[in-house]
Amino acid sequence: MKNKIILVFTIITFLAKADEGMWMPQLIEALNIKDMKKNGFKLTAEQIYSINKASMKDAVAIFGGGCTAEVISTKGLILTNHHCGFSSIAGLSTVQNDYLKNGYWAMKPSEELNCPGLTVTFIKRIEDVTAKVMTSLNPSFSEIQKDSAIKATIKNLELLAKKDSHYEAFIRPFYYGNEYYLFVTETFKDIRLVGTPPESIGKFGDETDNWVWPRHNADFSMFRIYASAENKPAEFSADNIPYKPLYSFPISLKGIEKGDFTMVYGFPGRTQEYLTSYAVDLLINQQDPLRVSLREKRLNILDADMKKNDTLRLMYTAKYAGVANYYKKWSGEMAGLIKSDAINKKKKQEDDFLTLVSNNPSKKETYKSLFNEFKRTYQEYAPLSKQYDYFTECLWGVDAFKYAATFIPVFNELKLKQKGKENKFDELLKKTQPSLPFKNFNKETDRKICKAMLETYVANTDREFMPRFLDSLLTVHNGNTIALTDFLYNNSSFIDNDKAKLMFNDFEKNASLYERDPMYLLASSIYLHYQKTVIPQIGYYDRQINELQQVYVKGLIENVKDRKFYPDANGTLRVSFGKVADYEPKDGVLNLHYTTIDGMVEKNKTGLEDYYVKPRLVELYDKKDYGQYADKNGKLRIAFTGSNHTTGGNSGSPVINANGELIGTNFDRNWEGTMSDVMYNGNFCRNIVLDVRFTLWMIDKYAGAGYLLSEMKLVK
Ligand code: ARG
Ligand code: GLU
Repeated sequence: MKNKIILVFTIITFLAKADEGMWMPQLIEALNIKDMKKNGFKLTAEQIYSINKASMKDAVAIFGGGCTAEVISTKGLILTNHHCGFSSIAGLSTVQNDYLKNGYWAMKPSEELNCPGLTVTFIKRIEDVTAKVMTSLNPSFSEIQKDSAIKATIKNLELLAKKDSHYEAFIRPFYYGNEYYLFVTETFKDIRLVGTPPESIGKFGDETDNWVWPRHNADFSMFRIYASAENKPAEFSADNIPYKPLYSFPISLKGIEKGDFTMVYGFPGRTQEYLTSYAVDLLINQQDPLRVSLREKRLNILDADMKKNDTLRLMYTAKYAGVANYYKKWSGEMAGLIKSDAINKKKKQEDDFLTLVSNNPSKKETYKSLFNEFKRTYQEYAPLSKQYDYFTECLWGVDAFKYAATFIPVFNELKLKQKGKENKFDELLKKTQPSLPFKNFNKETDRKICKAMLETYVANTDREFMPRFLDSLLTVHNGNTIALTDFLYNNSSFIDNDKAKLMFNDFEKNASLYERDPMYLLASSIYLHYQKTVIPQIGYYDRQINELQQVYVKGLIENVKDRKFYPDANGTLRVSFGKVADYEPKDGVLNLHYTTIDGMVEKNKTGLEDYYVKPRLVELYDKKDYGQYADKNGKLRIAFTGSNHTTGGNSGSPVINANGELIGTNFDRNWEGTMSDVMYNGNFCRNIVLDVRFTLWMIDKYAGAGYLLSEMKLVK
């Protein structure tokens, strides 16, 4: 009887909540298709992923650095988020043609705008290479030997996979290195902007609404892939033609209702679902609060300066958005994990795991000290993690430091040049040297940030652990960080528009002088200090933790038979399935699962800056000309929430209904649910999706670019 009770308990704590998981597409047939069908999915696993036939995977791409995009026409038209296309749109914008501010729509192919540097990558095939990677290992290897053997094998396998083709290939570890998969990819390099709403609509709600539901921004932009006459990737050329994709998503105009099946297909970046209670403890009680408080100091200074004038506002808007995004995410994550009693839940899972293996003496022996090892490792890791965060989030929050340190290799190359050795000095200087006057840097704003960051750093770091040159400067300035900062900002050539101009005129000639610039000296001292001390130590503990996680996750997979384990997100192609769902953000409140344009106009009426829209939108709203894009009550919907398990990188991902038709573009999560990177909870973790009907309404009615719809397959 007693054993039976234990068994029941273990099943309960390990059972994945419905909808949890980011699954590998090539394993859907084996692992998930039954569940998906039970939840309403009408197609086959092969229609999601196949290497023999065209399938959905051929229409899902990595967009730029870290977003997802989907192909929506047979002429290579792709859809992603506005915040994913942001830097490309900004790059094409000038004061005369401010596409960011005014929006842009090509009215014919020749008006589609080349975005230099932007790439779109498809996955050709995925292969399990675990056995091949493991054969390179010898049981007698030390950790370091193991590491380098694996790296070497991976490199060889990657080379082999792309041999004699225009494809690229990469291998990633899964389940903390228990498995390895190879991804063969094809990257297109001629990508052109087709259209974007004005920023006021694409980013409607800006930081106020970021990570928040209800949401009303049309977070989308559209691009087109161009290819050579042979339909192969090619550098930009006027002769290139629209790419003919293997697959493109049909688009549903039928809309969504609560409970409808939803599937997100994209490239989630990073989750850590199998962390132990010790890691979560560190996250909640040290890492998240420290990072949040350091970012808050920076944001307050930026905010105050950005309010002063438009020049400063424009200078720092992208920077502010980047810093604010994870500031808000971490604070939500921390609140969610605390509210969910995450540490104790993880502890219970650990206890249940030990109970589960305790019936088998050899297993009991294998795992008996595992969690003590975790505990000890995190105890040693915690102070290092703190030092590391003070480096990345505090000192490296000062733009001047981060920027001056980029000249370390420049001076190194110059030394080679002066010795008459082969060097890359000229090339590197050109690349590192900023265009002046500084575009996204204001000396006085940065000075304020530096004062605040140094004050915090010095108050929280022992002098013996500080970079040597900082310690000396503190001695010279009697520990006064304000005087120290003023000394740096008043005397450095690196951060002053006029002085920098002079410096770059005679950089090589007077290099020895510039190498003694106080800002450069301090920045390089900080950088080298952390490279030599904290970073290798962090690397050591990361490897230790990875080893332990490898054992734990392997143990879970082998012993917990009633649960399927999905691998943590690692920037590779994944499927998450769930449903359209509302949620209770707090007791007594129910958040509806969709928003409409009514709410957008209502927010606009508050007069708050973040809710500004151009009058055209309100005019269209007043006319109620929603056409085929209205729901059955005549409302024009903007966004909806789902229970799909998503994370950063899923931005721009196609959201698909039971018939495989596009119903929206994923763009965010709810604040209460940002803890899903560590502990997903199906009751309140929600992804936020732009309803594709609003996207089409914007293109058709707002922008007057309805001609684009004729190349799409609309399902009515
Ligand atoms: N929170 C979304 C994501 O994680 C949107 C970020 C961009 N928008 C912003 N206001 N910072 O990327
Ligand atoms: N906005 C995020 C992105 O750019 C998606 C939101 C999330 O983290 O889930 O990838």
